[in-house]
Amino acid sequence: TSSAHDVVTRLTRWADDFPEPGVRFADLTPVFSDATGFRVVVDALAACAPDAEVIAAVDARGFLLGGGVARELGSGVVAVRKAGKLPPPVLAQSYTLEYGTATLEIPADSLGLDGRSVLVVDDVLATGGTIEATARLLESAGAVVIGVAVVLEIAALGGRTRLGKYPLTSLVTV
Ligand code: PRP
Repeated sequence: TSSAHDVVTRLTRWADDFPEPGVRFADLTPVFSDATGFRVVVDALAACAPDAEVIAAVDARGFLLGGGVARELGSGVVAVRKAGKLPPPVLAQSYTLEYGTATLEIPADSLGLDGRSVLVVDDVLATGGTIEATARLLESAGAVVIGVAVVLEIAALGGRTRLGKYPLTSLVTV
């Protein structure tokens, strides 16, 4: 049987100088398009927090993973969107990315997140800005962030330190 480490190492597509000069971008699309790859990464992420009541899935590749993890655990799933996609009212959290700034949003009501245990799922942890903003956004809705699970961690960019207060699992560290 394939391990998550093997498929991620074999199938990740690296792009230099994207989306900005000096940034090396990890594109996990080929991992997800491979049936074995998608299954093993989803299963491994789900194992990180089997008791999570809700999965928070980060725009955009995190959506694919988060849906799979939620289905595996029998939990709900919330899409954490980039700004401008949701009708008001929304909760918003801005953050600094490795390349530029951005804002994430979720609906301001109706999600029932208050007091719920949430696992944040994304494809890549780089600087940690995206997931830190996601965690703050969820907490502003009353959720309890019980952990963070990513497929690939780029250690040199320091995301793990930035997310210090949250239990973090990465399937592969480079
Ligand atoms: C990438 C990746 C993470 C984020 C990690 O998303 O999918 O969400 O960057 O970077 P950070 O740890 O430095 O915040 P991107 O903004 O490229 O969006 P996409 O998934 O929509 O391509």
